[in-house]
Amino acid sequence: RRIVVLISGSGSNLQALIDALNTPALPQTRIVLVLSNRKAAYGLTRAQQANPSIPTAYLGLQPYLKANPDRTRYDYDVEVAKIVVKEKPDLIVLAGWMHIMSEGFLDVVCGEKPFDGEEKVQKSIPVINLHPALPGAFDGAHAIERAYEAFQKGEIAHTGAMVHRVVKEVDRGEPVVVQQVEIKEGEPIEAFEERLHKTEWEIIVKGAAKVLDEVAPIQ
Ligand code: GRF
Repeated sequence: RRIVVLISGSGSNLQALIDALNTPALPQTRIVLVLSNRKAAYGLTRAQQANPSIPTAYLGLQPYLKANPDRTRYDYDVEVAKIVVKEKPDLIVLAGWMHIMSEGFLDVVCGEKPFDGEEKVQKSIPVINLHPALPGAFDGAHAIERAYEAFQKGEIAHTGAMVHRVVKEVDRGEPVVVQQVEIKEGEPIEAFEERLHKTEWEIIVKGAAKVLDEVAPIQ
């Protein structure tokens, strides 16, 4: 089965996927492309250093808009989708992808817009996103810090992380895997964050495996 992974940063979740390839957790699966919207994303290095190495691509929003002044963010997202869809993935994983997708991305990935000439995606490709919070809790950026603050104020008893389907409303897709994460009284945010990231590394693999088994089960 073929996965494309989109990243923006360190790629520790990408690394979790790489380490799980062709183990019982993710059998008969390849990552066929890692695309980043940040040139300096260490995740690109992780892909290049994987064995076998994984093809990488970079496309930054600002450079794209500068090079194409008449184009919009929608066009950028279409461009990202075209690069991704050309690899014929069974699953697209947003792992630490720090860019809110406009409809341009899903329009191509769901087959509503052509990606090559008139060629459209025949069957909608599932997209999952990792988000370090529980469904509907802390949508958007800095979810980890916001959960930690809320805990300090006694507003929440715990938090969590989830892998969810990507739909047109941000961080609102149907959850695929949800895992609660405790916050311990008085623990520094670094310790909490480390535990939360470890949870993300587990659920990103579980989430990918679950969706792949739905769309491309191993016979
Ligand atoms: C993770 O907490 C992810 O949920 C968030 O970015 C953090 C770093 O991810 N979006 P990675 O190390 O780049 O995979």
